[in-house]
Amino acid sequence: MTPKRRKAKATAVAAANIAFIKYWGMRDEELVLPVNPSISMTLDACKSRCTAELLPGGAETEVLLRSTYGKLEPAPERFARGVEAHVERLAAWAGVSSPMRIAAHNNFPTGAGLASSAAGFTALTVAVVGALGKKAEPTELSVLARLSGSGSAARSVFGGYVEWPAGEHEDAGHGVQLAPPEYWDLCNVVAIVDPRPKSVSSREGHRLAPTSPYWERRQEELPARLDVVRRAIAVRDLELLGPVIEKDAVELHLVAMSSERPIFYWQAGTLAVLEAARRMRDEGLQVYATIDAGPNVHLICRPEDEPAVAARVRSLEHVDYVIRDRVGGPPAFDDRHLF
Ligand code: PMV
Repeated sequence: MTPKRRKAKATAVAAANIAFIKYWGMRDEELVLPVNPSISMTLDACKSRCTAELLPGGAETEVLLRSTYGKLEPAPERFARGVEAHVERLAAWAGVSSPMRIAAHNNFPTGAGLASSAAGFTALTVAVVGALGKKAEPTELSVLARLSGSGSAARSVFGGYVEWPAGEHEDAGHGVQLAPPEYWDLCNVVAIVDPRPKSVSSREGHRLAPTSPYWERRQEELPARLDVVRRAIAVRDLELLGPVIEKDAVELHLVAMSSERPIFYWQAGTLAVLEAARRMRDEGLQVYATIDAGPNVHLICRPEDEPAVAARVRSLEHVDYVIRDRVGGPPAFDDRHLF
């Protein structure tokens, strides 16, 4: 009896990240390199799972999504094309040519300003590299994940607090861990005011950003702002960190809203949550807001304040529901395959 061939199949789970200083503007679209460095916190609860399996030669790469009800369905055309291109890129990196079956699932809203593409493309990168039987250092995985087109994926390859420097050449464009998750236990209460996918992609936002009259001004202020965030993380000072991250988030949206053409991600609920954050601060809670490319608001706070923050936000009329997240670790392989 011939022994059964081991299946070349791997599943990886990766978390989203929330940027404290935002990546907004690309200086190289092909290599996915940013104009400015960015710093983020990798999350723990908002996760993407991806299973990759090599198919016999001659087959075609197949991209599936698992619905909330557990059913595997063909992915929408545009998304599938992006995944296929990344699978080809990874296969070329590994020096092989193989079609694959890919299945993906996010346990949180997709395309709504919750860094689903960072989590998704990190999980895809790790799963495909695993299915190909290759090993890669985190820095190399970070470069590979970034080349998917979702630059912020470069940061989700690491746990804890991560900087993505605006590297000078392709290989320099990987994330760097500033501190591991256990160094500083920060929480992120995500106020979901609209879970639907946004109508303008981050990619389009990156392209349009330099057309804003506020763009240059933000670039000038960023070096000092990045320094404050690095220092705040090093000394675990939320009162130092908070005002800077809130300012940077508002400025990203100021740039977006004044780009030619303007992009409005905010909704009424976005403003209601920002106002609630200010009120909670007046009452003595240390809570600061940040917003990615979407209407939903991330509230960064200490574990001791988190239950009060979550309860207050949940009670707001415009808030659909809250996701209670916190700082988390790097991607990992997992035995629970999606097929
Ligand atoms: O990585 P992208 O292309 O999805 O862009 C991410 C943009 C922001 O989420 C708004 C900011 C960031 O640094 O994550």
